[in-house]
Amino acid sequence: MRSVITGTGVGLPAHIVTNAALAGIMDTSDEWIRTRSGIQERRYAESGQGSTDLGALAARAAIAKAGLGAEDIDAVIFATMTPDHLLPGNGPLLQTALGLRTTLPTFDLRQQCSGFLYGLELADLLIQSGRYRHILLVGAEVHTAFMPWHLGWDTLIGQSTREVTAAEKAENTASRDRTVLFGDGAGAVVIEAREGHAGLLKTRLFTDGTGAGVLTMTGVSFKRRPFVSLEQIQAGETIPVMSGKEVFKAAVTLMPQAVRQVCAEAGVAVESLDLVLVHQANLRIIEGVQKALGLPPERVPHNIERYGNTTAATLPILFHECQEDGRIQPGMKVAFTALGSGLHWGAALYQA
Ligand code: ACO
Repeated sequence: MRSVITGTGVGLPAHIVTNAALAGIMDTSDEWIRTRSGIQERRYAESGQGSTDLGALAARAAIAKAGLGAEDIDAVIFATMTPDHLLPGNGPLLQTALGLRTTLPTFDLRQQCSGFLYGLELADLLIQSGRYRHILLVGAEVHTAFMPWHLGWDTLIGQSTREVTAAEKAENTASRDRTVLFGDGAGAVVIEAREGHAGLLKTRLFTDGTGAGVLTMTGVSFKRRPFVSLEQIQAGETIPVMSGKEVFKAAVTLMPQAVRQVCAEAGVAVESLDLVLVHQANLRIIEGVQKALGLPPERVPHNIERYGNTTAATLPILFHECQEDGRIQPGMKVAFTALGSGLHWGAALYQA
């Protein structure tokens, strides 16, 4: 039995926020953001629009594309680091929003940027168990929730027209190395059990907790009493804290290694890969992975310029776009790879 992606969909918020707009509320520039990260614009969800809402948009489209109805879904895997609430998870909320059967299980995954990859392996294992035929896998994020809204961020989505003060700009500038990188969005896939079709050939997942300190968000902590305070928010501790260069180095080393490993284990030559879909965190990282694998740029597509880093959503959004515009054709070999906070990373090899 093979795990085959038979439907894809995306859920993207309407508000497009350009680099120039960000430069209006902090000391940054279009030039810096483009040259350091490749990002030109990103989407921002509105207050009241959560990762379950975006995930539901993507999931509905994916289920329809697969030619299925809500009643056909047998299990849900929802990967996000920005759930609507601490509890319950997004799984049951999505189940209700879509009108899925109440007899099915839902799994809420974290694993941040690697959430979709972890979901792929879990979906494959569920299908191989023989108990599930149609798995809905969603990656969705609403990162804007952790942006410092009290410092004039509402002007970016047209909810305020007031001028951001010099003091607010200075405060926004303190977290500019991270805030400019993130966007909101969702992607979903339906994975079906099929005979006589290639589908998912191999997955490999890794975790190295000794690298946990390089990318953290410790401002919300159940070790503290209370678990979050106004001081933590004002100190910017509820925004991810990152040793950018260390994450960068780990990403350009470990992602190509993981791709090589799944290829070797599946007996597939790296040079024969038609596409490698890399987690969209930084264009320079994507190009680094492409060069390390010795592949031409057109085989390592990207859309970071339009969405920024949407964490668990980058891979399903990119897969959807490549599928829709014909870059993925039946029989093609596609590798997925991601690395993020944890450190969690890995790769998957898929034949369309
Ligand atoms: N605008 C203008 N200048 C800026 C900005 C900004 N937005 N951000 C930082 N700078 C300045 C810095 O202050 C610094 O100035 P200085 O030289 O005067 O001190 C200068 O630019 C260079 O900063 P660096 O941090 O050295 O820039 P670098 O080239 O390393 O790029 C970046 C930073 C983009 C964060 C990069 O390191 C990166 O992408 N790292 C990986 C990120 C990643 O993959 N994260 C994982 C995913 S997130 C997740 O898992 C949740």
